[in-house]
Amino acid sequence: MDRIEARISQLRKELDEHNYNYYVLNAPTISDRDFDCMMAELQQLEEQYPQYDDPNSPTRRVGSDINKAFTQVAHRYPMLSLGNTYTREEVAAFYTRVQSALQEPFTIIGELKYDGTSISLTYEDGVLTQAVTRGDGVKGDDVTENVKTIRTIPLRLRSNDYPRTFEIRGEILMPWAVFEKLNAEREREEEPLFANPRNAASGTLKLQNSSVVASRQLDAYLYYLLGEELPSDDHFDNLETARRWGFKISDAMKRCDTLDDIYAFIDYWDVNRKNLPVATDGIVFKVASLRQQKALGFTAKSPRWAIAYKFQAEQAVTRLNSVSYQVGRTGAITPVANLDPVQLSGTIVKRASLHNDDIIQSLDLHIGDMVFVEKGGEIIPKITGVDMDARILIGEKVRFITHCPECGTPLVRYEGEAAWYCPNDESCPPQIKGRIEHFISRKAMNIDGLGTETVDLFYRLGLIRDIADLYTLQESDIASLDRLGDKSARNIVEAVAASREVPFERVLFALGIRFVGETVAKKLAYAFRSIDRLAEATIEELTAVDEIGTRIANSVHDYFAHPDTTTLIEKLRTAGVQMEMKVEQLADRTDRLQGATIVISGTFTQHSRDEYKALIEQHGGKNTGSVSAKTTYLLAGDNMGPAKLEKATKLGVKIISEEEFLQMIAE
Ligand code: IVH
Repeated sequence: MDRIEARISQLRKELDEHNYNYYVLNAPTISDRDFDCMMAELQQLEEQYPQYDDPNSPTRRVGSDINKAFTQVAHRYPMLSLGNTYTREEVAAFYTRVQSALQEPFTIIGELKYDGTSISLTYEDGVLTQAVTRGDGVKGDDVTENVKTIRTIPLRLRSNDYPRTFEIRGEILMPWAVFEKLNAEREREEEPLFANPRNAASGTLKLQNSSVVASRQLDAYLYYLLGEELPSDDHFDNLETARRWGFKISDAMKRCDTLDDIYAFIDYWDVNRKNLPVATDGIVFKVASLRQQKALGFTAKSPRWAIAYKFQAEQAVTRLNSVSYQVGRTGAITPVANLDPVQLSGTIVKRASLHNDDIIQSLDLHIGDMVFVEKGGEIIPKITGVDMDARILIGEKVRFITHCPECGTPLVRYEGEAAWYCPNDESCPPQIKGRIEHFISRKAMNIDGLGTETVDLFYRLGLIRDIADLYTLQESDIASLDRLGDKSARNIVEAVAASREVPFERVLFALGIRFVGETVAKKLAYAFRSIDRLAEATIEELTAVDEIGTRIANSVHDYFAHPDTTTLIEKLRTAGVQMEMKVEQLADRTDRLQGATIVISGTFTQHSRDEYKALIEQHGGKNTGSVSAKTTYLLAGDNMGPAKLEKATKLGVKIISEEEFLQMIAE
């Protein structure tokens, strides 16, 4: 082995070690800075000496943006599910069945049942070679590249007492904290929310762009080893050994020698699971000895040596009294069930979300039905079913309304969307009030002192009919109103006046154009720089902006095509609201990359990918995801996808290094 190869292998070994200390043990032994330094050195060396390439190098944790369709792989051992139980009696029955089948002493291992998406990992000679989803149990999707981005999954094992080949199965999870952050982001961007961390984890695992997967911070617990030459006959010992190999094994695992031990385990986790950072939906009990497992065998669907005990789904039964319909600021109609108040996991529930028409139809709801209400991972309780046995006098079938409950306009349903909309955006009151509330909100114009109730009052009194009317409000109009007085009147007028300084990108967000969230507004503001240029933009010009697709482009185009928009914009302009980017905001922007379309691929040493993206835009260029005939440059980093490289070479696209790129934008 030459000097370079030795250094590369040493760096890989040390980085694997630090990765394990940081992510699995939660106990880093070096600073982030030193870690980044070592990673940069390794990236540099791997780029210089591609002959030492290794698909399991720690540099692969960042993922790649090559879109990859998944191939289906047959499982060597089928991925079965577990029999479910819901009561202690059913668990006791399982215990007795095992007892009479075995006729000898046995131990049960209690584990948590993690609520994510299951995965089967194959290791050969100590390196991860394949990761496959459960699929239909017989074959699943090969998601190896995505799984490699999960930092708690070892790419290479830590000691050398592992079998030459084995499989290990477990659950991929999105921690609650990551889930909540992701959903908050999606809400801001008006993207559909994930219902719970399980859906978020499985959705993420199926993304075709592994660099996005890397950013989602998934975690994984492993709970089941399979192979011909496992270290021990005892499941618990095997998992403890797997822990030494570098896998994340739950600390909750416990040996239970009696039925009472089992009950104690249930009692403990029924309460304490609420403090875990990840979602669990029950407990799994497994016979510890592999020899005994084999003797017990399987039924067609599940093992006889294991059982799941499901936590009480937080469910209640109550009566459906009526359904009401709320109109949002975009005109979307949300159906809400009004219920007899019922206690559900600590709170009293009176209303539940019915989501959309399709869900109402599939539940076959009738007024007066006794319905099941659940609080799952979701924040708002939902109706999961109807107690058909309790249906004596059948009430009226719930049918989605056909006209807006607020303005009477016939509702419409757009292609590909589950929601019904009230199309009367000009004069439907909740839509107008909703738009005003959005306009004054903190992330938009940040007009303090005005809340929902005040907006409602002003609207009812005819003081404001649209967002521009805010700027003509007089202190004298307000001061005479109930509950307001001189001081609040002055505050409101001052806050409105101060909003004239809010930068253009936030004004654009504040307008409440459908699908234009904070990030999109910023992109459009930098790309077009003024409302007039944006209003004139064609669909082609709009979609030419990075990350603006046809859905957003059409929405922006339709918004400005509306005659009322022109009037509104003129009113706002006259009121002194910012309608273009200020010179200071554009000061560090140049035209050096004007007209250039640049694709970024691989990993970089001097700046992150996001920084390169920002640099391209700052200098007037356009960043796109895939190489085409329109691509001007391919900005190539380390570990570049071979498909991209091949395509670029074939199309004659100029390939530039990060140094060359930085040279191009330097003065
Ligand atoms: S053992 C042959 N252990 O629950 C049995 N499964 O309904 C293999 N799960 O598909 C599974 N936590 O996705 C096992 N500690 C645990 C588990 C667990 C969650 C999931 C797994 C499985 C499903 C069975």
